[in-house]
Amino acid sequence: MAEVVLARVGKVYPDGTRAVGDLNLNIADGEFLVLVGPSGCGKTTALRMVAGLEEISEGTVSVGGKVVNRVPSRDRDVAMVFQSYALYPHLSVRQNIGFGLTLRKLPKAEIRKRVDEAAQTLGLEEYLDRRPRNLSGGQRQRVAMGRAIVREPQAFLMDEPLSNLDAKLRVQMRAEIARIQRDLGVTTIYVTHDQTEAMTLGHRVAVMKKGELQQVAPPQELYDRPANLFVAGFIGSPAMNLLRGELSGAEDDLRLNVGGQELRVGAGVLEQRPALREYIGRSVAVGVRPEDMEDASLAEATDGSRFTSTAELVESMGSDVMVHFTIEAGAVVTEDTKELARDAGSDVLGELETPHTVVVARFSPRTEVKVGDAVEVSVDTTRLHFFDLDTSAAIWDLPSEPAEEPAAETPAETPAETPEAAPEDETAAPTGDETGDEAGDEAKEEDK
Ligand SMILES: Nc1ncnc2c1ncn2[C@@H]1O[C@H](COP(=O)(O)OP(=O)(O)O)[C@@H](O)[C@H]1O
Ligand SMILES: [Mg+2]
Repeated sequence: MAEVVLARVGKVYPDGTRAVGDLNLNIADGEFLVLVGPSGCGKTTALRMVAGLEEISEGTVSVGGKVVNRVPSRDRDVAMVFQSYALYPHLSVRQNIGFGLTLRKLPKAEIRKRVDEAAQTLGLEEYLDRRPRNLSGGQRQRVAMGRAIVREPQAFLMDEPLSNLDAKLRVQMRAEIARIQRDLGVTTIYVTHDQTEAMTLGHRVAVMKKGELQQVAPPQELYDRPANLFVAGFIGSPAMNLLRGELSGAEDDLRLNVGGQELRVGAGVLEQRPALREYIGRSVAVGVRPEDMEDASLAEATDGSRFTSTAELVESMGSDVMVHFTIEAGAVVTEDTKELARDAGSDVLGELETPHTVVVARFSPRTEVKVGDAVEVSVDTTRLHFFDLDTSAAIWDLPSEPAEEPAAETPAETPAETPEAAPEDETAAPTGDETGDEAGDEAKEEDK
């Protein structure tokens, strides 16, 4: 087992496609890190560079402290589990699991021992003599995991290993993968486009967009303190509602106008988000999670903490009721929200440029709201999120240093350039600098 470090890793394919840029990740020994993002954001490419299946265009990948850029895949001591687990149909489960070890000419007794142990971990003991075609989808996926486990690698690399399974089995296998990883304690990088999978599996989750890391943090932190609009909208289901609003008032009486409805920003918000005071008198992007709203007739809603609208769609989930209503506020249109819309498959321009926004609230099942009813929605205004409309960045802290100040005192704030300079969590937070650098580089290219 070993730590895996990606330092300023980039990938440009021969046709000029930039799939990954300036990717910095420190995956600790025994950690389960999930790489998540929309299809095409570079997850597979990043994983294949770690596996040695794709040439690394820029930066370095280290496993157990050794740079492996030039080490061929089979000598990297990492095991990859793919989405399509291609088992050999004519071999038994035992032979399939042990196949790689047989190729490596390990002693028969050693292979038998390792396969037996893996079968036990995976609950496959009874099936060792079966052929793959006589197994369920979940069992086949377990066999594929078994092939990786018996290699006793330094790290597991998994690329959407559950995406061929039906929903129920996926949930079950998800729990198993978590358990197996915990039992074996093997450093794991797991790729998925499914944010639920990412949140439930990862010790930390790294969110990517268009080849660039947006934020890496433990799941709850990602949810509670998204660094930008993309992470805010990508993590959480149903997604965070995003609306344009105007901040007014004073520090001790902060008001938010959203589509003509006025909210009083909850006490404590400015303490959590000191930089918000710079936005008084300006437009901001406001985020409201569905669970931070409730049927006002079931909750205490004081003045300045409610939306009034009409229920357009009421979806009962049993445990909750999703109520959709419209607010006459402009949609938040930034590069981030366009990317989210693209990922959700909606018609980007058509749907975003409207002066009203559909909001989804998660009500208690005790609500009696029906489609077409007027609704009063109470909003927990202490849990509102705020983002800059120009940069998409979440509004949290005031800049710690004036911009002109030399960076002498704060080297830890720049992204990790070397593995040593990277105390896990802080450096992992995005700085927003990457995009600027990129744009600068491109501009330079064009000058030539
Ligand atoms: N062999 C290749 N040649 C050129 N472009 C590629 C190649 N493989 C992937 N890409 C492109 O690189 C980007 C990232 O792809 P990929 O890593 O597969 O994303 P993900 O796994 O997140 O869906 C996409 O734009 C994809 O079209
Ligand atoms: Mg992929």
